[in-house]
Amino acid sequence: MYDIEKIRGCFPILGEKIYNKPLVYLDNGATTQKPQCVIDSITDIYTHYNSNVHRGVHHLSNICTDKAEEARRKVAQYINAQSDTEIIFTRGTTESINLLAFSFGESFCCQGDEIIISEMEHHANIVPWQMLCERKGMRLRVAPINDKGELIVDEMFNLINHRTKLIALTHISNVMGSVNPIEQVIRKAHSEAIPVMIDAAQSIPHQKIDVQALDCDFLVFSGHKMYAPNGVGALYGKGDWLNRMIPYHGGGEMIDKVTFERTTYNVLPFKFEAGTPDYVAVIGLGTAIDFINSIGIENIENHEHTLVDYCIEQLSKIDGIRFIGEADKHAGAVSFLVGNVHPYDTGMILDKMGIAVRTGHHCAQPLMDRFGISGTVRASFGMYNTKSEIDKLAEGVERVKMMFG
Ligand code: ALA
Repeated sequence: MYDIEKIRGCFPILGEKIYNKPLVYLDNGATTQKPQCVIDSITDIYTHYNSNVHRGVHHLSNICTDKAEEARRKVAQYINAQSDTEIIFTRGTTESINLLAFSFGESFCCQGDEIIISEMEHHANIVPWQMLCERKGMRLRVAPINDKGELIVDEMFNLINHRTKLIALTHISNVMGSVNPIEQVIRKAHSEAIPVMIDAAQSIPHQKIDVQALDCDFLVFSGHKMYAPNGVGALYGKGDWLNRMIPYHGGGEMIDKVTFERTTYNVLPFKFEAGTPDYVAVIGLGTAIDFINSIGIENIENHEHTLVDYCIEQLSKIDGIRFIGEADKHAGAVSFLVGNVHPYDTGMILDKMGIAVRTGHHCAQPLMDRFGISGTVRASFGMYNTKSEIDKLAEGVERVKMMFG
């Protein structure tokens, strides 16, 4: 039994009024709201045991270090990594991909090599690879999508050749909610000895991720999209790859021994974690994982599937709605346009009704170009959303239509 009222009760912000109307928060793809236990964990640290991690012999530092490393174990268990040392804490998905593009690129790529991505990627999974390509004289290959917003898998496979060094693919499109057949891509890539990075930013809050079952080589995600504090995310990488990659940032804690002549590096995962990490957010991420586990990610997935289906069903009844992305496998988000109304205008009117959606290009300008549009209106869902909130969205869209004739 999915106790939606109990779940909603854990999120204080859901009680807020926007222009004196109940908040309808449908912008979970951008960031999720935080349950009280996560908010409390932050206060608890600063009130009782704040201290830098891995640096002190004193009591507080030991408590903080233990809790941060416990959070690493929770993340490892959550995605079923073989070892905690395969979890590198970063500031989020963007930093994880930048880390990989630098460290993997500098360690394994040469002029003329190629990286494959898809046409539906977020800028975070385009630009770091472009920067690598510019640095090294490499080539970025882009696998196309069809009009429904689905990856054309065969065309992606046609791009593979002996120069292909890595495939970097989103699990779920942040704009369209299309779910990519990552298992199939990983199998094919591995048959050609090519590693695969999965951008799980938009999937990890919605479904079970098992990196060993997937057999992906790298996987990246952000905490703030899974009910955790901002400023923390992770790069998962198979130990064998991470061990052979050079560090990204230099500084404290990533070293073994420093002299002016030469520095040797720390072991995993610390080799990739220079400087003081946001250990408060790291510990909060552990709390968010406990919270998700207490509800059950499969239960959350079922609930959200019902919401996505219901949203498509309700919006389909409205004349003039155009969906951007109608993939057969769909999760997390629904993007649409209301007739010729600019997405920004739709967003403004919905906002006045207390409904928060995201409008614009969603950091996926090449995808907008693919569809010949400047942006979309996106409703994206979390564990606490309800069908009656979707009814309000549909009412809001009807109002937009009325106002713009
Ligand atoms: N990448 C986030 C989104 O899609 C910010 O909204």
